[in-house]
Amino acid sequence: MIPFLSLPSAVLLAACASAIPVSDQQPLGSGVSSDADIISGRPSRGLAGRFLHITGTGVYPNAAQRLRSALADYSPDLHPDIHYESGTDKDDACHRGKGSAGYFGAQGTECDSPLTLINQTFRWIDQNLKDQVDFVIWTGDSARHDNDESIPRTEDEVIQLNDLTADKFYEVFQKKDSPRGLSVPVVPTIGNNDIMPHNIMKDGPNRWTKRLSDAWSKFIPEHQRHSFVEGGWFTSEVIPNKLAVISLNTMYFFESNSAVDGCKSKSEPGFEHMEWLRVQLKILRSRDMKAILIGHVPPARSGPKRSWDETCWQKYTLWVHQFRDVIVGSVYGHMNIDHFMLQDSHKVKIADTSDNPESSTALDDHSGEFSALSRSSYLSSLRKDWSKLPSPPKPKSNKADSLEEWADDDEFVPTDDDRHAQKSKKKRFLKKIGGPFAERYSVTLVSPSLVPNYFPTLRIVEYNITGLEDAAIWSDTQEEYLEVESLSDDDDDAVSIDKKKKKKKKKGGKKKPPNFKVPEPPSKSAPPGPAYSNQPLTWLKYTQYFANLTTINEQVSTASEQSDNSSVTGTGKPNFDDIFSFEVEYDTRDDHTYKMKDLTVRSFFKLATRIAENYSSKRKSNSNEIDAEGKKKKKKKSKTNQVWRTFLQRAFVGFLDDDELDDIET
Ligand SMILES: *[C@@H]1O[C@H](CO)[C@@H](O)[C@H](O)[C@H]1NC(C)=O
Ligand SMILES: *[C@@H]1O[C@H](CO)[C@@H](O)[C@H](O)[C@H]1NC(C)=O
Ligand SMILES: *[C@@H]1O[C@H](CO)[C@@H](O)[C@H](O)[C@H]1NC(C)=O
Ligand SMILES: *[C@@H]1O[C@H](CO)[C@@H](O)[C@H](O)[C@H]1NC(C)=O
Ligand SMILES: *[C@@H]1O[C@H](CO)[C@@H](O)[C@H](O)[C@H]1NC(C)=O
Repeated sequence: MIPFLSLPSAVLLAACASAIPVSDQQPLGSGVSSDADIISGRPSRGLAGRFLHITGTGVYPNAAQRLRSALADYSPDLHPDIHYESGTDKDDACHRGKGSAGYFGAQGTECDSPLTLINQTFRWIDQNLKDQVDFVIWTGDSARHDNDESIPRTEDEVIQLNDLTADKFYEVFQKKDSPRGLSVPVVPTIGNNDIMPHNIMKDGPNRWTKRLSDAWSKFIPEHQRHSFVEGGWFTSEVIPNKLAVISLNTMYFFESNSAVDGCKSKSEPGFEHMEWLRVQLKILRSRDMKAILIGHVPPARSGPKRSWDETCWQKYTLWVHQFRDVIVGSVYGHMNIDHFMLQDSHKVKIADTSDNPESSTALDDHSGEFSALSRSSYLSSLRKDWSKLPSPPKPKSNKADSLEEWADDDEFVPTDDDRHAQKSKKKRFLKKIGGPFAERYSVTLVSPSLVPNYFPTLRIVEYNITGLEDAAIWSDTQEEYLEVESLSDDDDDAVSIDKKKKKKKKKGGKKKPPNFKVPEPPSKSAPPGPAYSNQPLTWLKYTQYFANLTTINEQVSTASEQSDNSSVTGTGKPNFDDIFSFEVEYDTRDDHTYKMKDLTVRSFFKLATRIAENYSSKRKSNSNEIDAEGKKKKKKKSKTNQVWRTFLQRAFVGFLDDDELDDIET
């Protein structure tokens, strides 16, 4: 019997309230009143129980210049950076379309981030988050996109933009008197726009792994730099001896990288990368440590569409499943829409034969970007996938919904007569999903970007720090502390293919064994990992922040008009910096719709099931249906699954209005 399941929830709640003093702090930076809480939120020493995830900063320092020349065409006298937005805003009430670039960026466009947005984002992090997070995950795309034929990117510019962004992190998190020069570890990963030409990366060492290793010298641990130069991947032990963040080089998995070919052939960097990852996870398991996986392009896969080469997806999903006792979770960027995905280990076909992966097409378009057009259909196809998830047996008592009950042994006990039938139905269901913790699945989180494709965003993830009160703090330790003893890799894997024997060529026409080692699963006695049951390092919730550039840019316009009018009196250059701020978009736990009690796979399984509820492939509105009271049901809206609706709305960072969301739904 698993103790967690038999605990009544009230006891659990009480336990966590007393165990973690900071777990119920005010949302960070949610308003003026919370500033005080922020300051007092973190114990003077020890872990804060939070990390920051930031992705797709995509700085474009020339934006202001471009704006200025665009302005000069029609209104040469206006103050350059400022009036642009107020002008187009009036023209374009739906605040979309090209050219609506505001002072802090052009929300809802494909434009990159002006320096003003970068500067103010880091100022905001400095003032609101700096001392509130234990580490920073930075999932790539720091250079602008290659989307302007008249100003092609140059190698120098790409390097410069990477340097600039790295400097920003350094400025905020530097700590002169600490052994490592930083207050918290920052873990970067390579984005498809951080290299030249974008998407294309050959095996390493190459000039991009070398250059980025220089740009990120403060963030890549010394003893990992060699590994990074070799392949663009590395491990950072963000809580010494407890937790490592593994930075993957997803360029080697990416369908749009035409310089490589998947993870199946031993000569491919993707193959080598998977081998490296397997060994890392194995070492961490042997040290009783946990891992977070990060990368830029996520392992998106829905219907026949894929972001990764299928052979890489297969291995990754297998690895993640076999190391489910080690992996806490995984976070990615690239897609610019806020969502999550479930990896289904039943889709892994490579453990027996490595041939014939399912045919697939790239999710990303020819330029390697995940286009706005394909986003809606991708989200719909995710919902369709989720509609096929095993569904829990219907509860006899209809007071609570079955999803809440299936995991809760105590509550699930039905009335006497159908006890047996229900029990075996439940058993079958649990077997289908890999037991009470849904271990058949793993979860990938994708955060939207800072680049305002919709609104600029940041994410704070909170994790369980019970029992970690005495954990060593990264900034207090020397790097030597982290030295990982190398582990012999030849001994103990489940399907161990002796490399030397392999080289002597296969003998006979027997069934071909895989040309790689299948990682061992967790030991039989191992309890479920932190991704599956709430324990130290388990993710408890995340808070999604966004900056409403519509409001902010409008306020800048107003302020600039005022300052223009008063400039006769010579008050000097106006300061718009204080106008910029992030606010909470939503929070997975204290939320009316998601209401997730934690971020375990089980919780995401439930959420996915709720999002998929009432999915109909026909997508026909039954607007003329007559309901019980004889009234005509009101159009689609009242019929819409509100969880799905909310998921969609959040995917686009709250930027789309109701009509636009309706269009996606139908
Ligand atoms: C951004 O900050 C840098 C210093 O970090 C400064 O040199 C630059 O002028 C700022 N740019 C804008 C547009 O605020
Ligand atoms: C953290 O995990 C422990 C179990 O190790 C659990 O008792 C506690 O309730 C969890 N804390 C939170 C805030 O969920
Ligand atoms: C952003 O601000 C605009 C204008 O103030 C407002 O209409 C809109 O609802 C806001 N969006 C969000 C997601 O808060
Ligand atoms: C600034 O002055 C112009 C006329 O010179 C006026 O139309 C505008 O309303 C004024 N703006 C503010 C914010 O006072
Ligand atoms: C699904 O449809 C049923 C019947 O129309 C309805 O009662 C239920 O609320 C719907 N579920 C969601 C999540 O919208």
